[in-house]
Formats: sequence, structure tokens, C-alpha cells
Amino acid sequence: MSNSTPGTGSPDTSPEGVQPEPPNPLDEAAVAAAVEQALAAIAGAADLNALKEVRIAVTGEKSPLSGANRAIGKLPKDQKAAAGKLVGPARGRINSALAARTVELEAERDARILVEEAVDVTAAPRRRHIGGRHPISTLQDRVADVFVGMGWEIAEGPEVESEWFNFDALNFKPDHPAREMQDTFFVEPPEAHLVMRTHTSPVQVRSMLERDLPIYVLCPGKVFRTDELDATHTPVFHQFEGLAIDKGLTMADLVGTLEHFTRVLFGDEAKVRLRPNYFPFTEPSAELDIWHPGAKGGPRWIEWGGCGMVNPNVLRAAGIDPEVYSGFAFGMGIDRALMFRNEVSDMHEMIEGDVRFSEHFGMEI
Ligand code: DAH
Repeated sequence: MSNSTPGTGSPDTSPEGVQPEPPNPLDEAAVAAAVEQALAAIAGAADLNALKEVRIAVTGEKSPLSGANRAIGKLPKDQKAAAGKLVGPARGRINSALAARTVELEAERDARILVEEAVDVTAAPRRRHIGGRHPISTLQDRVADVFVGMGWEIAEGPEVESEWFNFDALNFKPDHPAREMQDTFFVEPPEAHLVMRTHTSPVQVRSMLERDLPIYVLCPGKVFRTDELDATHTPVFHQFEGLAIDKGLTMADLVGTLEHFTRVLFGDEAKVRLRPNYFPFTEPSAELDIWHPGAKGGPRWIEWGGCGMVNPNVLRAAGIDPEVYSGFAFGMGIDRALMFRNEVSDMHEMIEGDVRFSEHFGMEI
């Protein structure tokens, strides 16, 4: 039955040169042993992957029982039935053991997944620290929203501004004391006549030169003055400037606009009061006070900015005929509004950039 030639030194040749009888795959004991081994391996498979390997080993091409099956094919006809009765049930036992173990291991896997992948919906969420928008930006946006809601446009100008826009075009005469009232950072060289803008009013003039009439613009931005940083001052702060130029605008339009705006921003109880004042670029000019409902401080009048009817000289400097058009303007501080609106008592807090300060205002977008 051997297919190796004696004497060729093949490894299964015994030292005596006698070919050992190869095990008979149809031997009853061999089949029983193969079944026992297979059942043990099936029972020992710890998970579905291991069982897959076992399945190949016990039912695959190279398994003892496949060998036995192939051997049946080579038997004489009259022996086939008996051999089939030996091998068939043996394979049947192995297949049903495989099926049973599969069911068991699948159930185990499902149970494990339920535990491992369970989501604890009561667990505290891990909070991501997302920072906070600075309340000055938020307030600036809110102010802009109110005006955009009335159909106004947002205008911007440079922070390094020519002296002409910052002062001359706004009707500050060359030796006007107002130039010194606003302590100015001059930019070198002096011949360039550049300053860090001391207010957002130069954007008025730029808007009048650049835009078609009528004009309704809001100009928010940073402004600069040579103030020392202390609890109520900072050399860099924020203003917004409003400018309306149209036919027939009067002081009543100015007051109506300011009243609407302060009510949206500070609540329905907010009131507006104008006190006569002087600004070179408006005539008449007024100091703007608002009756603010107050946070901790309770309701009170607060001085907030300046306003007035655009001085005809300013209109002329921008090439607008004051006989046909009139306008009003106003300018207020954002940082100051934040101080009285939210009871921020120290300017340092606003400029230090500590995110905890910003976070406490909440995330308004
Ligand atoms: N620019 C002025 C300042 O910074 C504020 C101001 C006053 C603006 C009157 C105006 C205005 O538009 O009409 O002190």
C-alpha cells in the first residue's frame, strides 16, 4: 500500500528498511480517536476565531475523517457500505458539535459586546474647553446687529489714519485745543502726518467720500489715546460711530435712532438724554446720557458718548452740499458700555486676556 520506494532513504523508511504499515484511516479505533480529538478541540475552542481553525483541522481536506472518506472511495464495492456507516456518523457527530459550539460562542460574543460596548448614558460628559469670545467682540456685534436690522451698513477705516481724516476734515482747526484734548499717538516720521486714530469719527469722512448718498453707516473699531492703563482707562479701546446723511434729517431723527438703539441694547426702560456740548464736527453737539436699568448698581444716568448734527463744514470737506443734505452722527465707547452694563469695575480685567473673564459672559454668537 506504500507509494514510497524502499531504500530511497525516505524519512518514513524504518532503520531495518521495512516500510511500516501506514495507519488505516478506516480503522474503527482510528476513527473513534479522530472523533474524540475533534470533539476535544471543538470544546476547547475559546472563541469563534479559534473555532474556525478547529473546523478547518477537523473537517478540512487534511482532516483524518476527510482522509477516511477518500479511503472509502478506493474500497471494493462490497466494503463501502460498512465503512460508510463508520465514517458518516463520525462526521455527523463532529459537525453537530461544531454547530453547537458555534451557537455557544456566538452567544458569548454577543453577551460580551453588550457589556463592552455599553454606553453609560448617565455618565458625566467630558467637557471640551472651547474658550470664550471676548465680550467686547460680542457687544460690538450686537450693536452692529441693531443697526444692520434698521438697514444701515457697516463701514471700516484704517487704525493708522492720516491726520487730515482724524482732525482736519472733522473741522478741528490746526491749533484747535481739541487736538490736544484727545491725547494723540503720532506716527513717525512727522512729515507723513499719520496718527493712531483717536476716534472712529474719521470713518465718517471716508464714508462720505466713498459712498453714494444717502448714507447710513455704523463704524465700529479700535481707537488709541496716550492714556495710562488704570482701572478706568486704557490706551487702546473700542468705539462705534454712527453717521446718517440724507435729505431733511433733523435732531428728532437722531434722538429717535438713539432711543431705539438703547432700548434694544439695554431694555425697554432705557432712556436717552442729550446735554449741550461742543464737538468741532457737529453743530449743534450734545453729550449723550442714557438711563440705564443697571445691573447691581440699580438704575442711573450714565454719560456714554457724543452726538450732534453733522457740521456743514464737514459736509463741505466731503463734497456734500449742506443746502441739500443734512446728517447726524454719534460716537460711543464699547468698553465703557461693557463696564456699566455688566458691572466690570476694572479695565485690567478687560484687556488681560484671561479666558475665564470672557467665559463668564457666556457664548453669544
Ligand atoms: N469722536 C468723539 C470722541 O471720540 C465722539 C463723538 C462725538 C462722535 C460727537 C460723534 C459725535 O460722531 O457727533 O470723543
